[in-house]
Amino acid sequence: MLEKRRNFLKKMGQISLGASVMGFSPLVIENVEAAARHIAHLTPEAAAQEEGFWYQVQKAWVQSPHFINLENGYFSPQPTEVVEGQIKNVQMVNEMPSFYMRRRQNEDHQGIKQLLADLAGCSPEEIAITRNTTEALDTVIAGLDLKKGDEAIMTNQDYGNMLAAFDQQSRRFGVKNKIIELPLHPKSDQEILDLYEQQMTKRTKVILVTHLINISGQVLPAKKLADLAHSKGIEVIIDAAHSFAQLNFKIPELGGDYLGTSLHKWLCTPVGLGMMYIKKDKIKNVWPLFGDKSHKPDDIRKFDSIGTRPCSAVLTIANAIRFHQSIGAKRKEARLRYLKNYWVNKVKDLPKVTINTPFEDARSCAIANIAVKGKTPNELAEYFYKKHRIFTVAINNVAVKGVRITPHLYTTTRDLDKFVKAIEEIGK
Ligand SMILES: Cc1ncc(COP(=O)(O)O)c(C=O)c1O
Repeated sequence: MLEKRRNFLKKMGQISLGASVMGFSPLVIENVEAAARHIAHLTPEAAAQEEGFWYQVQKAWVQSPHFINLENGYFSPQPTEVVEGQIKNVQMVNEMPSFYMRRRQNEDHQGIKQLLADLAGCSPEEIAITRNTTEALDTVIAGLDLKKGDEAIMTNQDYGNMLAAFDQQSRRFGVKNKIIELPLHPKSDQEILDLYEQQMTKRTKVILVTHLINISGQVLPAKKLADLAHSKGIEVIIDAAHSFAQLNFKIPELGGDYLGTSLHKWLCTPVGLGMMYIKKDKIKNVWPLFGDKSHKPDDIRKFDSIGTRPCSAVLTIANAIRFHQSIGAKRKEARLRYLKNYWVNKVKDLPKVTINTPFEDARSCAIANIAVKGKTPNELAEYFYKKHRIFTVAINNVAVKGVRITPHLYTTTRDLDKFVKAIEEIGK
């Protein structure tokens, strides 16, 4: 596997020489790699507080100086490494347009899938590159052979697109959807397991588990939920839009049968890239959204028949993976959690402040949601932006009302100090 990967990266380098394009931006990556060697002896939690190291990482992004962006939940800005990589890939594809598409694209696509599979701890025969989580998961939801009377379980905090896809299955085929209400501050994993279990019947075919809930930042015990479902013969779809490359895990460790993620979120690839994972023996159970006659029903490549692909963006996944690895997945998770705790701990006890996110490390990471008494979510988000030039997003969900705060690796503690001051001004 490693050999294959090395050959692929070598080949990318050769294309780079041949067409004077592509390759990696050496300064950024090497600076981060060198800084990482200095802190290699530290635990991820200790490394999370090494501001000297994070200074090198922060320099990997160019961000507008006109406001502080604490809304990194929509998608991640790409580090310079990735932006430059994509420009070079666009140039390369345009220098040898259909020659590239006809002679090189497929092999490169498989090479990128191999890199993703290595990162995700699964086989390239279990993944397809999609445009985003929505495409990955809605393909699964629409492609499963669910029939009238079959039941599916989901929660009131799952992402709207997935709930809408299940709703369509209900209206179209008579699938019965059961929507449970998740607590914002669960007392234990068992509390969540019980909520799902109470809805499971002999007709339950599938559950949807959002690994990291976007509106509140809560992390669900995905593996325990998957084990519970499997013990009753129920399949498991995992929404890993926010957890992949934010939390450090390998996909099979979550125990899901189907999983979708957006690579443009925490892996920091170009926008418009996602990944669908289907456990090998489950591939045959899912109809592709677009018909395919070129592959067998148990071949993941049946999902690749989507027409012409954004191949230069796909190639740039290699740059994003290398950047991610230069930091280290464990360190990245620890730093993101540290940044969230940094501001949350300073404001959580203010009289008017409510944090709609669990405090335990295992139940949250980068994202937290804050409400301030007397302000609607929109008013609060506008206050942060208009008065303090801090950009956030108002969450007006039935289950969660507040403002979502999502720092990123380029966020400095100085930025967060400014944010804390802004909260103190109205939260006392
Ligand atoms: C939990 C969750 N699922 C799915 C999605 C959809 O992601 P995309 O818009 O990339 O398809 C999001 C987007 O924010 C999300 O937070």
